[in-house]
Amino acid sequence: MRRAIYPGSFDPVTNGHLDIIQRGCKLFDEIIIAILINPEKTPFFSVQERKEILAEVLRDIEQGGCTVIVDSFEGLLVQYAAERKADAIVRGIRAISDYEYELQRAMMNRRLEPALETVFMMPAEAYSYVSSRLVKEVFQLGGNIGGLVPPIVEQRMKVKVLG
Ligand code: PNS
Repeated sequence: MRRAIYPGSFDPVTNGHLDIIQRGCKLFDEIIIAILINPEKTPFFSVQERKEILAEVLRDIEQGGCTVIVDSFEGLLVQYAAERKADAIVRGIRAISDYEYELQRAMMNRRLEPALETVFMMPAEAYSYVSSRLVKEVFQLGGNIGGLVPPIVEQRMKVKVLG
């Protein structure tokens, strides 16, 4: 039984995130999508909204025999991973710029918890430039985000802004 944590902000979840979850499902029996509760950031969607959205979009994706759980956490990721008895952390890497940032974090996490492995996965090329931050920027400026996020996310973003 191999369990991984896929941590992140997921504000909002993108098709790139879903691609990584599906790839992670090939390697792990269980993936816990762990939304960081970050009081310092003003998010677009609340943690509760992000949980609901993730649960909804996960219903539509092929997970094979893998169990995908949605949760949230505060504080140190390695501590949360230990509590959930996880074997690994999964992170998506799109470009070299991601790698440098992720390597630093992975090394720090290894120092804090040597038994926990970090697994970097590459999304499909089509999502290599997709980030939650850019999706929000394009959406807020009236651009088309179709194909970058699941349709439910786009709907929820419209409801949030237009009411
Ligand atoms: O989607 P994001 O915003 O890139 O995710 C960043 C995340 C949640 C992976 C990162 O902020 C994190 O691990 N936060 C937990 C705090 C922590 O453990 N920090 C010290 C280890 S580097």
